[in-house]
Amino acid sequence: MTNSHAARGIDTSRPHSARMYDYYLGGKDHFEVDKQAAETVATAYPGIFVCARENRAFMHRATRVLAREHGIRQWLDIGTGIPTEPNLHQVAQSVVPDARVVYADNDPLVLKYAERLMRSTPQGRTTYIEADANDPETLLTAPELAEVLDLNRPVALSLNALMHFITDARDPYGIVGRLLDVLPSGSALALSHCTPDFDPQTWEKVTAIYTGAGTPVQFRAQKDVARFFDGLELLDPGIVVGHRWRPEAGQGHTATDEPLTDAQVSLWVGVGIKP
Ligand SMILES: C[S@@+](CC[C@H](N)C(=O)[O-])C[C@H]1O[C@@H](n2cnc3c(N)ncnc32)[C@H](O)[C@@H]1O
Repeated sequence: MTNSHAARGIDTSRPHSARMYDYYLGGKDHFEVDKQAAETVATAYPGIFVCARENRAFMHRATRVLAREHGIRQWLDIGTGIPTEPNLHQVAQSVVPDARVVYADNDPLVLKYAERLMRSTPQGRTTYIEADANDPETLLTAPELAEVLDLNRPVALSLNALMHFITDARDPYGIVGRLLDVLPSGSALALSHCTPDFDPQTWEKVTAIYTGAGTPVQFRAQKDVARFFDGLELLDPGIVVGHRWRPEAGQGHTATDEPLTDAQVSLWVGVGIKP
């Protein structure tokens, strides 16, 4: 680890989920240790690149649907990841230029690049908060959040590829419930979550690789992902594999034009509205 990384709290001696994800997406903001761990995952599960790409594509579609059809103008995106264009605010502001977005992540490397998340339209506003999803109170009471979001108006809570990093021991359902509690009626939850449902053996290996690298994970079955939406009204088509949620023209295929399989994508996604 270089001194400047250490000074910023960035540990380059161990792989980190945000930087491995950057590698899956073809980004450049990762270190050798992340690349090696990501390649080990890819050996066990070659679909990981498709999974990451489809996860991102779901975020784009869900954001546009919420902006266009459900009047959402504000987002709280937790587990943002290293900025990858288009970022959520760019997608939202392409539909509603005055969209406001609060980003949060607990990886110091995301903080390093947070300036890329601040390039808002003049009409809208964005901010970045370094925060741990395991401590929702600190995030919800952060002054930066209150400066950007009006919690009396609907907010979309965006938890993409985050909750499988929060094991049952950390009360993931309690965390999501607490976050939704403070949001008014008409707010939304958009969530994606990796699953072992289509290929349990492969996902056992993926779980072992992340856990062995110091990142506990819990990939969940569809019924357990559905619990995050308890009390919400699910938008059609419900909780489905990522590429099946309102696909747009030209999506849902591999680079060689084969239809994607559920096992390749291995990601449950859904969007629910708070009544
Ligand atoms: C797989 S990436 C997903 C990035 C982005 N949400 C997306 O779907 O494209 C997961 C992100 O969650 C972040 N993360 C993991 N555990 C977290 C926690 N307890 N609190 C905040 N962020 C967390 C990681 O640092 C990483 O940036």
